[in-house]
Amino acid sequence: MNLNILVLPGDGIGTEVTREAVRVLQRVSEKYNHTLRLTDGLLGGIAIHKTGTPFPDETAKLAADADATLLGAVGLPEFDNAPPAQRPERGLLGIRKVLGVYANLRPVRTYKALIDSSPLKNERIEGTDMIIVRELTGGIYYGTPRGVEGSGDTERGTNTMTYTRAEIARIGRMAFHLARKRRKKVSSVDKSNVLETSQLWRKVMVEVSAEFPDVELEHVLVDNCAMQLVLNPTRFDVVVTENMFGDILSDEGAVLAGSIGMLPSASIGEQKPSGAWVGLYEPVHGSAPDIAGQNKANPLGAIGSVAAMLEYSFGLMEEATAVNNAIESVLNAGQVTADLKPKGTPLTTEQVGAAICAAI
Ligand code: NAD
Ligand code: IPM
Ligand code: MN
Repeated sequence: MNLNILVLPGDGIGTEVTREAVRVLQRVSEKYNHTLRLTDGLLGGIAIHKTGTPFPDETAKLAADADATLLGAVGLPEFDNAPPAQRPERGLLGIRKVLGVYANLRPVRTYKALIDSSPLKNERIEGTDMIIVRELTGGIYYGTPRGVEGSGDTERGTNTMTYTRAEIARIGRMAFHLARKRRKKVSSVDKSNVLETSQLWRKVMVEVSAEFPDVELEHVLVDNCAMQLVLNPTRFDVVVTENMFGDILSDEGAVLAGSIGMLPSASIGEQKPSGAWVGLYEPVHGSAPDIAGQNKANPLGAIGSVAAMLEYSFGLMEEATAVNNAIESVLNAGQVTADLKPKGTPLTTEQVGAAICAAI
């Protein structure tokens, strides 16, 4: 099979973890006889440096032409005080919108080998296996009006959380379809005791659930969900929620997995006639300026995102499983980076990438 992949390493540790993810793609292509065509592109802070904008038109064209896009992370401290429209992060919002990848799938599980890497009690987190389905191209991230106007005491910042029935229904269906292949439970997370968008969200989730009588639906308020995630994480199977709630809850999920460096994600949009999904694949973590350039970032979230790409955008289940099995085997062998607090000497980013390739 031809695998035409756009690679956007981005900023900070994005470049380091992406290098290892690409090596894994090369290893898989070699082993299973696929033709890998990689194209490099610019997104985020590096794109601002080189072209003056975080999401150059050229990157949009490359993404439209590729079968799938692999992304590292974006964000540089030098832009911390820049207005949102001129920040690296705006590039990420731009590419998600242009690709129409409305469903961000963020699996969170505890591996046996990492049970002691989490600060939470073993018996609480053991057996955790959930997928957070985060709506990704709507809500407060994109709503208008937005901006800051005026000055003095009346200077005002505005953001708008808004959802249409259609946007809620499609992410709801995605969650129910996923639940059908899992433990058949959807937890819809909202703030319907306060927000009108959440009231519509809840109403539409109930309507969609009628199409899936074999799947259980529960509603959880987001503040309670934040607590339940660390108190009783095994009660969750599929968690579906709006954009910002999903962003926040998935970083909390990282504590269950042992490190944010472990979490992969798939952002998917339309399903093509071939059955393949339009997809953008990125780890959940950011550019981690505090450890960038030190060859110690955990590349397993990025590598797990490669497995997700093989599954969703290419339908290559055997290859995806080989990558996921390799992750499990390096964890069992204790071949991990410092964030996972191994008993022995931690491996570097590059060494973990090499260990994964060797295990495939
Ligand atoms: P972060 O995820 O970059 O880092 C949070 C903490 O987790 C840091 O202590 C970091 O060292 C650690 N960490 C993150 N990834 C790790 C890995 N792979 N291995 C080991 N440790 C890891 O979040 P932040 O510090 O809040 O944000 C830094 C920048 O990244 C900001 O500019 C932010 O906007 C951006 N960001 C980008 C993305 C993305 O591109 N998808 C996601 C989140 C944050
Ligand atoms: C993520 C990140 C992004 C988000 C930022 C960098 C725009 O935190 O992918 O989780 O909030 O979606
Ligand atoms: Mn985030």
